Amino acid sequence: MKKLWRNARLATLADPSGWGLIKAGAIVTEGERLHWVGQASALPAGLQVDEEHDLEGALVTPGLVDCHTHLVYGGQRAAEFELRLQGASYEQIARAGGGIRSTVSATRGATDGELYQAALGRAHALMAEGVTTVEIKSGYGLSLEHEVRCLRIARLLAHLLPLQVRTTCLSAHALPPEFEGRPDDYIAAVCEWLPVLHGQGLVDAVDVFCENIAFSLAQTRQVFEAAQRLGLPVKLHAEQLSDQGGAQLAAEFGALSCDHLEHLSAAGVQAMARAGTVAVLLPGAYYFLRETRLPPIAALRTASVPIAIATDHNPGSSPGLSPLLMLSMACTLFRLTPEEALRGMTVNGARALGLRDRGSLLAGQRADFAVWQVEHPNELAYWFGRNPCSRVIHGGQERHPTLPDDAPR
Ligand code: NIG
Ligand code: FE
Repeated sequence: MKKLWRNARLATLADPSGWGLIKAGAIVTEGERLHWVGQASALPAGLQVDEEHDLEGALVTPGLVDCHTHLVYGGQRAAEFELRLQGASYEQIARAGGGIRSTVSATRGATDGELYQAALGRAHALMAEGVTTVEIKSGYGLSLEHEVRCLRIARLLAHLLPLQVRTTCLSAHALPPEFEGRPDDYIAAVCEWLPVLHGQGLVDAVDVFCENIAFSLAQTRQVFEAAQRLGLPVKLHAEQLSDQGGAQLAAEFGALSCDHLEHLSAAGVQAMARAGTVAVLLPGAYYFLRETRLPPIAALRTASVPIAIATDHNPGSSPGLSPLLMLSMACTLFRLTPEEALRGMTVNGARALGLRDRGSLLAGQRADFAVWQVEHPNELAYWFGRNPCSRVIHGGQERHPTLPDDAPR
């Protein structure tokens, strides 16, 4: 079925730089794909469509791609937030058995229904701000049984919602209590789970938290080798709290992305540039952990490393569910331009997931786009605490309702 979406201002992001603005634009979708995008005056003569939709002069951008979230978990960590405000550090809390481990016990203790309902509310919040593709990591189950449960719930969201979901296995997120003092045994177990999880169709990519409070470079390598044997792409939580050289290791494995990167070295930047690895920057975690060391933005730009921006939604380091606030913080905290920020949550977000079929408004790409009640795309990084998203089209279909009244915000 062909549909004409007329009377729109488009920010296509179709070229490597610039907004790709088309003032009096139109879009033709055919099924799930964009069939034609351009100036309304240049619409192909004799075009026959099955439906016509008036976008009333609103701004249209590609649907947002949130390429790094931990959406499925039980409980919350507001008490830990208070401890941190009183001076405890994220590392101290983790070493004392809190942090990720406390979410692991809450997740294991939650029913499937509880986990699903909580994740559904979070997915709705992201969708309301124009997200059409989201990545969801496991990593709060930390046993085969509970990792399967969390990844299944992530897949179920994709099945039941007008939303594209990519799942990442992050079983190497923290050491579960039953493996206390035996991190190598745990990593060996994770390497045995991977073929099982993959065999059940639950894994699109494999991630590791490489950090002094998590897993070493050698342990990360083992997980990456197991992923490689299965033909799965890898990603890495790298250089968030210290420089472990994780970026170089990830680049060696042709990683899709390295994420966080506040402590990334010059050598790490070069390795990522050579491998074409995307730098996923997470201003929500930087803000919420009250970090002061910035990722090396200028060096990433100079080396032409693609930069993506994501929410990193999780209960410990980034409990935010507003992709638009992340765009704002990418500019205010990381000094990205509004165009870099939006590119980071569209084209480059898609690239961080290995997806080349979305992220810009170009014929042939997925027909995922968001409609905004703003004049110019720079406003998406300008307003905060206000959601100007009025409509979302996912795979050529209008999503109803775009703003569910009862969606948790
Ligand atoms: O991306 N850095 C590790 N993982 C998450 C936080 C997990 C947690 O604290 O629950 C992150 O920041
Ligand atoms: Fe994360």
